[in-house]
Amino acid sequence: MNTATRRTLAALALVLPTLALPQTHPAGGHVHPAAGPAQDPAAAADPRRPVAFPEPLRRHTLANMRDHLLALGEMQDALAKGEFDRAADVAEQRLGMSSLKTHGAHEVARYMPQGMQDAGTAMHRAASQFATVAKDASVTGDLRPALAALARVNQACVACHAAYRLN
Ligand code: HEC
Repeated sequence: MNTATRRTLAALALVLPTLALPQTHPAGGHVHPAAGPAQDPAAAADPRRPVAFPEPLRRHTLANMRDHLLALGEMQDALAKGEFDRAADVAEQRLGMSSLKTHGAHEVARYMPQGMQDAGTAMHRAASQFATVAKDASVTGDLRPALAALARVNQACVACHAAYRLN
């Protein structure tokens, strides 16, 4: 099991028992959902570590994230049309190791805890691996390895989202 998967499972292990809690209250028991921030159930159920970015960097990062999602969609669209080189280029330029400079990864990294940096690196690596595998698909005609590689990129997004949030 890789680190990203372990982190996701650890996060799930934290969330799941919390989600189950309300059902353990006996029927008719008194619950005070508005009892104050310390007992805010939403906050208690959020196991993600808050990370502080300076405001301009936070906005820039979220805009980047929205482009990540757009890129994933474009990769799926390209795969569906058999445009393997386009799928590979989108992955490498927008999410892969080649995207690190355009994302200003260097400045952002110093505000990130080590685990978050590692999750980012894992995502960039997975995207570059997808680019290689998608190019292979244009030779073999077999879509399945590319889809599996795409799923690993998606898992890398999910692993970081499960562990961190911006405050
Ligand atoms: C290194 C960590 C990390 C990785 C990897 C990562 N994200 Fe994010 N992403 C975040 C954080 C942190 C937020 C803010 C979440 C919050 O504060 O609730 C976020 C937010 C987002 C948002 C919401 C943007 C908005 O405007 O609010 C989208 C969409 C998103 N990510 C997509 C993706 C996609 C798609 C991938 C993978 C290709 C990805 N992210 C990979 C950390 C990451």
